[in-house]
Amino acid sequence: AVVPDLAGRHVVVSAGGTREPLDPVRFLGNRSSGKQGYALARTAAARGARVTLVEANTGLPDPAGVDIVRVGTAVQLREAVLKAAADADAVVMAAAVADFRPAEYAAGKIKKKDGEEPAPIVLVRNPDILAEIGAERPRPGQVIVGFAAETDDVLANGRAKLRRKGCDLLVVNEVGERKTFGADENEAVILGADGGETPVPHGPKEALADTIWDLVVPSLGSD
Ligand code: C5P
Repeated sequence: AVVPDLAGRHVVVSAGGTREPLDPVRFLGNRSSGKQGYALARTAAARGARVTLVEANTGLPDPAGVDIVRVGTAVQLREAVLKAAADADAVVMAAAVADFRPAEYAAGKIKKKDGEEPAPIVLVRNPDILAEIGAERPRPGQVIVGFAAETDDVLANGRAKLRRKGCDLLVVNEVGERKTFGADENEAVILGADGGETPVPHGPKEALADTIWDLVVPSLGSD
């Protein structure tokens, strides 16, 4: 039986990948499937939490017993996460948020013109939602969890990112061909701001999700 150790808690999970529109038919996107975030939402609900799942472009079926907020872009995801975070005990940023968005949105479809070079796409920075929540801590005692996909110097880059983002836990995935994105299984190291390092062997995304909640639970405030 599942221990209801998140009963009475509100947790916010972001999942999927943002899409940053260029024109009505095109966007800049990424390969995040949303499966890890959905596994986090399902396992938290099973452990008794009230769950707000902020979903960006996953196309996955709605998990039962979870409040879903649908968003498209990083700016929309930020708004939805900050709103839900105001009374949350834990916030887990599993979504792949675009670091940049096109500086301009063309209201009409961008057309190719004979004999003309294509116009360059100018990008601007998106807000870093995790860093913002990590710095502001919308609610005292809140536990903030981030994800990081790294291709090299995984642990050193993870440690630096944990500090930079001001989160309590950072789940570091090594990405490469056929690893992590779109898969049903994952392998990670969970770094703690307290210096903790928890390796999670290759296995279902549900198992990684439960290990994350196992590490979150002891840090939750008592009221
Ligand atoms: O900096 P990087 O994209 O590697 O950090 C990944 C973590 O930061 C993830 O938890 C992601 O959800 C979060 N993030 C964010 N806002 C951004 C970029 C990433 O919240 N603009």
